[in-house]
Amino acid sequence: MNKIAISAILSSCVLWICACTCAGEVPKPNYDETKVPAYVLPELLTMASGAPVTDAAAWQTRRTEILEMFRTQMYGRSPGRPPALQFELCEQDAQALGGKAIRKQVTVYFGPDRAGPSMDILIYLPAAARRPVPLFVGLNFHGNHAIHTDPGIRLSQRWMPEWGKGVVDHRATESARGTAASRWPVETILQRGYGLATIYYGDIDPDFDDGFQNGVHPLFYEPGQTRPADDQWGSIAAWAWGLSRAMDYFETDGDIAAQRVAVLGHSRLGKTALWAGAEDPRFALVISNNSGCGGAALSRRCFGETVARINTSFPHWFCGNFKQYNGREDQLPIDQHMLVALMAPRPVYIASAEEDQWADPRGEFLAARHAAPVYELLGLPGLPALEMPAVDTPVAGTIGYHIRRGKHDVTDYDWQQYLDFADRHFATR
Ligand code: GCU
Repeated sequence: MNKIAISAILSSCVLWICACTCAGEVPKPNYDETKVPAYVLPELLTMASGAPVTDAAAWQTRRTEILEMFRTQMYGRSPGRPPALQFELCEQDAQALGGKAIRKQVTVYFGPDRAGPSMDILIYLPAAARRPVPLFVGLNFHGNHAIHTDPGIRLSQRWMPEWGKGVVDHRATESARGTAASRWPVETILQRGYGLATIYYGDIDPDFDDGFQNGVHPLFYEPGQTRPADDQWGSIAAWAWGLSRAMDYFETDGDIAAQRVAVLGHSRLGKTALWAGAEDPRFALVISNNSGCGGAALSRRCFGETVARINTSFPHWFCGNFKQYNGREDQLPIDQHMLVALMAPRPVYIASAEEDQWADPRGEFLAARHAAPVYELLGLPGLPALEMPAVDTPVAGTIGYHIRRGKHDVTDYDWQQYLDFADRHFATR
């Protein structure tokens, strides 16, 4: 065979390989534990230089290295607090929920122009509690009005995905009120002495791939820039950034104990809660509910949702650089146990659901378990379980974990564990 023939065959192979990958063909998800590839996790307690991390000071240096890798390779780098940030208390009711709560609705304007991007925080504080009160904050999927039937909650006017209940032509209607209430047991949270704050995630960045033209990203473009660079923030980082802006507000509100704010989220918003906790040490406690791939689950296990799958279905969630790891999880310089470890020494809780195999419950447990050496290095109990605990049997040190019966959701059982975990860790603050 002559050289030309060989090169023709080679180039057609290259084209074929390219066609397969370019067509976005993502292998079928694996749900078989025996087919999980053999993998080696990147070292948590070894510096990039190869030096071992043996004390708290060295961990701080290592932490910065790890955070930088997550920023540049996965979630993307976010801007800081914008200088023109403004808060407006739009509504307050000291007799909300039949006198049980103080309700506040606060608009946060991200830039100087009030017609520009902004978000609305809904806050409930227990009326009977001594203030300032500790608080849970989390983003919601369907608008603040969906978390409770309270008619005082302003109906969101923003773009909503059509799959939300009571949404017509991408706008919420009155019938959307309270449709997500099962995930937000407001009265129980208040009874336990905590406040609750929530924000519709679409206020910060609507959850669809529009090349980053809507939402908060354009506010930060350099002259001539039209989309984030490959190492700049995707939507998850933008949502996490929004949580930090809520924290900026909490620090100004004398009714809120800003040193005792727990950030939590479910699913894509659980990924977001973890990234918010990693980026912003002001969150004193971090909770990930069923966060799965790109959240608590180890990427290298390739169980359920994979990097290629998530980057194909949701190309706007992570930064451009993360796409390099489609089908190449073993090349990632990080894995998700390192994300969990970024919370140390703060308490972090990871929750899975038995029927949520897409999110790889075992991978979520293993990330928690492999984060534990950092806590132990810092003299704190890590996760008191080497093996995955039985269903509905929570384990908790400074890292908490449970797998509950049932499907991908946030339930009263989950909240029960989060409230108990917060009680334990906030008691001394
Ligand atoms: C999809 C996605 C998950 C995500 C989930 C959610 O299932 O693949 O990564 O966690 O949506 O946010 O509900």
